[in-house]
Amino acid sequence: MTSTFDVRVADKNFVWHPYTQHGLPDVPIAIASADGAHLVDTSGRRIFDAISSWWVTLHGHAQPQIADAIAQQARTLEQVIFAGFTHEPGARLAAELIARAPAGLQRVFFSDDGSTAVEVAVKIALQYWQNRGEDRRLIAALENAYHGDTFGAMSVSDRGLFTDPFATKLFEVARLPDPVHGDVVGALEQLIATRGNELAAVIVEPLLLGAGGMRMWPAPVLAALRDVTSAHGILLIADEVLTGFGRTGPMFACEHANVSPDLMCLSKGLTGGFVPLGATLATEELFAEFRSDDRTRTLFHGHSFTANPIACAASLASLALLDDSCVARRSAIEREHRGAAARLSALPGVANARVLGTVLALEIEAGRSGYLSEVGAALRRYALDRGVLLRPLGNTVYVLPPYCATSTDLACAYDVIADFVEAQ
Ligand SMILES: Cc1ncc(COP(=O)(O)O)c(C=O)c1O
Repeated sequence: MTSTFDVRVADKNFVWHPYTQHGLPDVPIAIASADGAHLVDTSGRRIFDAISSWWVTLHGHAQPQIADAIAQQARTLEQVIFAGFTHEPGARLAAELIARAPAGLQRVFFSDDGSTAVEVAVKIALQYWQNRGEDRRLIAALENAYHGDTFGAMSVSDRGLFTDPFATKLFEVARLPDPVHGDVVGALEQLIATRGNELAAVIVEPLLLGAGGMRMWPAPVLAALRDVTSAHGILLIADEVLTGFGRTGPMFACEHANVSPDLMCLSKGLTGGFVPLGATLATEELFAEFRSDDRTRTLFHGHSFTANPIACAASLASLALLDDSCVARRSAIEREHRGAAARLSALPGVANARVLGTVLALEIEAGRSGYLSEVGAALRRYALDRGVLLRPLGNTVYVLPPYCATSTDLACAYDVIADFVEAQ
């Protein structure tokens, strides 16, 4: 790249950004590099990435072991079609994921990101019943759920601002109440009583409805959902795209409830947040319904970059870093979060400060609530001016840092939130 290249001009003229209203005055910040828990902009200013860059950066930016693994894999085997071929990073990663996953999960189907991991889970669930000769096509999903932006993932996500323009193109789902305040188990039992023979699967974000507002729900409810689905032979899909790899404490949020789902979706932290990769884990029972000499029973799904070796190598390096010292760092973050939640709760205008593992969330009670709340955008700008990246979901503020974040980094984020609230 030549030194005369102006990233802002090229960006302004040629780029269309995600979840961005280009008619508003906000200009994207040009980032030149990153290390650890910090981004560095083109003027050299450091910004604490308190949201792990959309929840992906696990250990830290530019983590050396992952960077080396990527470089080495790129020089050895950068890509090969994964139909009819296999490779060590892919096979090894599948084995390593299964070794860590809840008991019963046995097969890994790779894809590109969180949305495609969900698409694959939904397709496996629906075709499983078709392959068995049973007409079950209904999926149940939670109120306030978010599972991604592709059409299947939007269908199982709650309907609203993000999905409204596509409402007529989304498939029907049975909507169960948000387990934070509703009787989701009772509602599922009622659904089974009326439409149980149509019900193929229930999909949940275990213990944490992420984009729906960092809504934390109790482990016993997840365990009860598993009991009810198991008792009726209905599949349970755990979307651990956000919660996987220690975000909520244990490796997977399902572990809080000692639950083994039939399908589990992974992405985001899967590669340590370096490169895109999705994975859908399935039980052998599900896999067996596809294995046949009848080719029509095949799962006809795949992506050009399925099990990309570079992404798999990054993921293997990231998994190796999820050791005991990482557990200790996550516990330290949780302790800091708990202290901050107590402190922030005492401020007028702060409601419902809560912690689940490395996630701290709270609501700011000012103006309108919901995703378009002005408070969120104002706090985002305020925090950036103070060198902290926050991206509130409307008036829901959260801190979800890379595991290398220090107590000084975290204190910066908490202080920014406190100062902002006090200035309201
Ligand atoms: C629980 C959950 N599932 C799926 C997705 C979609 O992932 P992606 O943005 O990688 O498609 C997200 C993204 O935030 C998520 O939080």
